[in-house]
Amino acid sequence: MVDLDFHVDPEIGPDLATRLIRLWTDVTNADGAVGLVPPVTVDDVRPLADKAFGAVRTGESHLVVAETGGEPVGFFFLEHRPGPLFRHWAELKRLQIRPDLQGAGLGTELLQAAAQSARDLGLEQLRARVRGGTGAEAFYVKHGYEIVARVPDAIRVAPGDDREEIYLILRL
Ligand SMILES: CC(C)(COP(=O)(O)OP(=O)(O)OC[C@H]1O[C@@H](n2cnc3c(N)ncnc32)[C@H](O)[C@@H]1OP(=O)(O)O)[C@@H](O)C(=O)NCCC(=O)NCCS
Repeated sequence: MVDLDFHVDPEIGPDLATRLIRLWTDVTNADGAVGLVPPVTVDDVRPLADKAFGAVRTGESHLVVAETGGEPVGFFFLEHRPGPLFRHWAELKRLQIRPDLQGAGLGTELLQAAAQSARDLGLEQLRARVRGGTGAEAFYVKHGYEIVARVPDAIRVAPGDDREEIYLILRL
């Protein structure tokens, strides 16, 4: 049984940044669909991660880190769409659990933390986008999300391997 502690918008110093980038790399290399295609190194992940961390530092988005024994084992971002018309919702991005801990219920806890964080921010909806062909949409649907759109051929995983992008909404 792994107990998770959640940290909302922690200060992203060099040590935490390094640990999260390593986690993101490991999840990608275990076939996780979190913005990249394996194989990757930490240097491949860093530009995407630094951009996401930058948005957290300026308050444009939020980061929630799940730790056990002081070690980050999962995280996600809540990202706002810029502009005044979209302040009532955020997009849940890069939801991930360390590969060796997947399948034990921690992802469900992380998803529940996402909904709670969104409520705490006064949001009315959470959105997610899932890479077609991974089956991950079933995880969201099981926890109350509704599939609202499928955009064909939106994601080019490799030449000749285009995937649909599945849009989901959770009403809070
Ligand atoms: C998605 C993720 C966060 C779920 O975390 P987890 O700790 O494995 O989830 P849980 O153990 O709480 O729940 C697992 C359940 O979700 C289902 N599930 C999780 N990922 C799934 C996937 N990609 N396809 C189909 N089902 C999936 C499992 O089959 C399981 O179902 P069950 O409870 O009926 O047995 C984790 O698997 C992960 O980090 N994946 C890699 C990153 C990724 O692809 N993230 C999704 C971005 S959209």
